[in-house]
Amino acid sequence: MLKKIIIAIDGPAGSGKSTLAKKIAEKLGFMYLDTGAMYRAITAEAIKNNTVDDINNVIKISRNADLRLFPRNGKTEVFINGRDVTTEIRSIEVSSKVSEVSVIPEVREELVRMQRLIAADQNVVVEGRDTTTVVFPNADIKVFLKADIEKRAERRLKDFNEMKAGLNISDIKKNIIKRDKIDSEREVSPLKKAKDAIEIDTSNITVDEELDIILKKVKEIKSVEN
Ligand code: DC
Repeated sequence: MLKKIIIAIDGPAGSGKSTLAKKIAEKLGFMYLDTGAMYRAITAEAIKNNTVDDINNVIKISRNADLRLFPRNGKTEVFINGRDVTTEIRSIEVSSKVSEVSVIPEVREELVRMQRLIAADQNVVVEGRDTTTVVFPNADIKVFLKADIEKRAERRLKDFNEMKAGLNISDIKKNIIKRDKIDSEREVSPLKKAKDAIEIDTSNITVDEELDIILKKVKEIKSVEN
């Protein structure tokens, strides 16, 4: 039997991880795993319980959560404790708190364990902040995406406009800059480029061009295996 393939993509908010990961998954028939959605779901549940600033409660939520991800129609539906939070996890309230939840080592431990379980028996494209460095340090292909702050904010504004959230670009930019800082300066599993990751600046290239780069890598792996 052929070895399972893991393609891991990390990068800051708005760098284009989800778009590329979904394209790869669709093209190759791999499972798409959005690890950010998992941190967001824990955050949404803690906000709902009014305990998002209480670390011990957030840890408790992460340990007891029945967290389920269902890839459907190019979108990941997310349920926590039976509640559909697919839309809620993209709100500005969750976006503003998720980096604080993500610094909690016990929460990370729990979610990393789940992520490894999900990837244990299938080909996956996984994206997040530490998937190339901590979750899957032996991933077959590692990618680090980056893009100009202007481009990243425009992409997020488009997402929020689709949700009719009525936000402006300067609020979004502030949120992204704050999250970048927390995500890359935290002690546990900070966002950083793995030494052996392919770096792609997505500011001025198309998703199809990005996809081509990855598909070439997949071909190389397969030709080595055969
Ligand atoms: O990719 P995203 O914007 O949905 O991620 C939301 C937050 O979750 C991000 O600001 C930091 C956190 N995160 C993380 O710490 N580790 C991951 N592997 C994925 C996301």
